[in-house]
Amino acid sequence: MQAMSAEAKQVFVHLSDLHLSDLSGVVFSQLLSKRLLGYLSWRRKRRREHSTAVLTALRADLSLPVNHLLVSGDLTHLGLPDEFSQVRGWLDQLAVAGDISVAPGNHDSYVVESWQNTYFQWLPYLRSDGAAEPTSLAQAFPSLKVRNGIAYIGLNSALPTPPFFATGKLGSAQLKKLSALLAETASQGLFRVVYLHHPPIPGQEKWRKRLCDAEALLDVIRRHGVELLLHGHSHKWQHKMLELPGGKTAPVIGVPSSSALGQHGETALYNRYSLESAGTGWILQLDSRRYQHDGACFVSVGTESFAIPR
Ligand SMILES: [Fe+2]
Repeated sequence: MQAMSAEAKQVFVHLSDLHLSDLSGVVFSQLLSKRLLGYLSWRRKRRREHSTAVLTALRADLSLPVNHLLVSGDLTHLGLPDEFSQVRGWLDQLAVAGDISVAPGNHDSYVVESWQNTYFQWLPYLRSDGAAEPTSLAQAFPSLKVRNGIAYIGLNSALPTPPFFATGKLGSAQLKKLSALLAETASQGLFRVVYLHHPPIPGQEKWRKRLCDAEALLDVIRRHGVELLLHGHSHKWQHKMLELPGGKTAPVIGVPSSSALGQHGETALYNRYSLESAGTGWILQLDSRRYQHDGACFVSVGTESFAIPR
């Protein structure tokens, strides 16, 4: 990835819900839990929806200059240790550690598993700048990486749930730390990008898939402000504006799966953002890039520009 000076335009990319692991080698003894239902769903639907052809095209499209890459969860199907290992291999080939940040999704935290067998394998992509090595998701999040005037703040909304539920929760301890991080990064004049798996606005998602403490998250954000909120989970392109005190607004943008063929919903898409300082604020440009079956490549399908005050 290309290094750019603090004065130049910064480019960052948002991917989500890649479900890129392959379960064909899974044996029955690994499925003695909620995982059996998830495995049957993968056999029936997801194994043909999330395609290696799309992932190959995605990798090619990401060779365009990018300063930072955000992945908002659900890289696996059942959160098995071997899936974490497959994802680690894919991320390692994508770019150097430090230029990618990952937040967990509900499929990654499908059932209770040890840190060492799962998220530890993604450590370079989870850990904050200069922080001690975390030994749990509770220690790792919120995560913070600061790159050329941008604070990338990752949240963990994923937790194991009963069968047929895919709810998320941030918890009061994480929200308290988020509150301090937003205040600190605001005082440094940074452009604050908060990214998480679940949609953060109440009513955006079905009840059984919602973020349970979305109101508490918005309370923190209204108190300290934010410049951009990103999420995945719904497998839909979504765009809302969050009203903040003082007449300000912040874009809240969700991407669908970035690996889907579109047989059961939207075809793969990812969002590419360019940010530059303008006067007392910033200009943020969004380029949405969708997979095209003709040509097997990603192309721009829409652009939008936001003037964001400090
Ligand atoms: Fe999800």
